[in-house]
Amino acid sequence: METEVDLSVEFAGLKLANPVWTASGTCGYADELSDFTDVNKLGGFVTKSVTLRPRQGNPVPRVVETDSGMLNAIGLANIGVEEFISEKTPILEKLACAVFVNIAGETIEDYVAVAQRLCEQKAIAGFELNISCPNVKHGGITFGTEPEVVKEITTAVKAACGSKVLMVKLTPNVTDIAATARAAVEAGADALSLINTFTAMVIDIESRRPVLANRTGGLSGPAIKPIAVYMVNKVYNEVTKGTQIPILGMGGIRTATDAIEFILSGATAVALGTANFIEPDCANKVIEGIRKYCQTHQISAIKDLVGAVEQKNAEN
Ligand SMILES: Cc1cc2nc3c(=O)[nH]c(=O)nc-3n(C[C@H](O)[C@H](O)[C@H](O)COP(=O)(O)O)c2cc1C
Repeated sequence: METEVDLSVEFAGLKLANPVWTASGTCGYADELSDFTDVNKLGGFVTKSVTLRPRQGNPVPRVVETDSGMLNAIGLANIGVEEFISEKTPILEKLACAVFVNIAGETIEDYVAVAQRLCEQKAIAGFELNISCPNVKHGGITFGTEPEVVKEITTAVKAACGSKVLMVKLTPNVTDIAATARAAVEAGADALSLINTFTAMVIDIESRRPVLANRTGGLSGPAIKPIAVYMVNKVYNEVTKGTQIPILGMGGIRTATDAIEFILSGATAVALGTANFIEPDCANKVIEGIRKYCQTHQISAIKDLVGAVEQKNAEN
């Protein structure tokens, strides 16, 4: 007889049916996906970044494929918070999974205003704070690279988001991701998500120009997976282990094997991003793959695998 597997996880006070989410910016506002996959079966869904005002984003070309990945410089193209509320929240309200709205801005005041505008919306379980955005007041350096700024923005948004869960999304473009993770936790983050994309560049050798109009973009997909697993494990070991703060792990996940790696490294839940462009139903396949793995290995609850990678042996 097959083992009954409990795939549910507790995530910052939310009870999720399973640990599999889709990542921000890769599945729009959910309605775009409805012909290809059933979002209701996921543990969670994160919207495209929403800003105070609508944004056109960067000029094209703004995506380019790379070996085992892609670069994007979409530039936070989105419909803005008012249209998001009128057009998208009625759709999101009907979803069975936990809905997180990814929020972005150019100043801390922008982020706070979006959180305040959305904090009464019943469709929303929480916010994912995209701090990989250029900070206009700090000369364009991203909010997420300085622990002090991470603290400041997390504190401000936490005060504005009412009872919604606040998840801070960490950038990998730092020397020590545990330092920015710690700053977010100390400032009141309820959860962490990692990682966002790596700043990268592709050059066309015939024109001798960068391929992306923006020159640089964010690298995502399988190419970044081992670094993402390492970073999740580092943040888990140094910051969140033994606390109630869960990690949403992401970066190159395509299969159940990938997802289980992240869970073993310390992620309570995982998100698929780039993989959706190749196979829009991949997240649901990952859920079934995790169930099979648990059955094969007689694991009755997926939550028991969180952070269960073998610890370093003192003699080695
Ligand atoms: C086309 C594209 C658009 C993205 N847009 C956003 C966004 O709006 N906000 C955000 O926080 N992350 C955004 N991301 C980053 C993803 O959510 C994710 O953190 C990253 O791509 C790593 O996961 P993956 O390798 O599975 O794609 C985007 C990624 C891609 C590929």
